[in-house]
Amino acid sequence: MSAQLQDMPQIRRMVPADLDAVVAIEREVFLFPWTRGNFSDSIDSGYYCLVLEQGGDIFGYGVMSIGAEEAHLLTLSIAASAQHKGWGEKLLRRFIHIAREQRALTMFLDVRESNHAAARLYERIGFIQIARRRDYYPAMGGREDSLVMELVL
Ligand SMILES: CC(C)(COP(=O)(O)OP(=O)(O)OC[C@H]1O[C@@H](n2cnc3c(N)ncnc32)[C@H](O)[C@@H]1OP(=O)(O)O)[C@@H](O)C(=O)NCCC(=O)NCCS
Repeated sequence: MSAQLQDMPQIRRMVPADLDAVVAIEREVFLFPWTRGNFSDSIDSGYYCLVLEQGGDIFGYGVMSIGAEEAHLLTLSIAASAQHKGWGEKLLRRFIHIAREQRALTMFLDVRESNHAAARLYERIGFIQIARRRDYYPAMGGREDSLVMELVL
């Protein structure tokens, strides 16, 4: 591959060697981050774990499981310095493409009620809120509801 092509941002499968970078971003963007074990278990379970990489640097990632014709987007993150450039949408669209390829009929995700930036992204793509789970997430000083969103594939 030419040096120029190698420097283009790319989406690829997450491998164990990515976990230091993934966990560092996770701690940067979430108050209640996934652990390294959560990510390595996801890789070991055969979940669809993708990273965004440019020139050897990871700047985003996501994890999706698929079963019984349902895809579940379990997490999606873009490093703070790379947000608002369309990468969240690109990565989400790749997951949707994979879910369709795998013959999933719907995709579900949970989003914190206070996470308006993420909810806006999901709504822009076509996700619709279908339910609310009371006190689903830990939060500063208590718990927070999750909004369950669905995209019909
Ligand atoms: C939610 C998240 C994944 C979105 O990623 P992102 O890469 O910033 O998303 P996008 O760039 O595709 O879209 C974000 C905004 O940037 C805007 N944008 C996209 N490309 C742009 C560009 N080139 N120039 C300026 N703005 C742009 C989009 O229109 C969008 O606007 P909005 O805020 O009005 O919706 C990211 O904010 C994140 O990782 N947050 C922390 C973790 C998190 O909450 N994850 C979701 C858990 S459910």
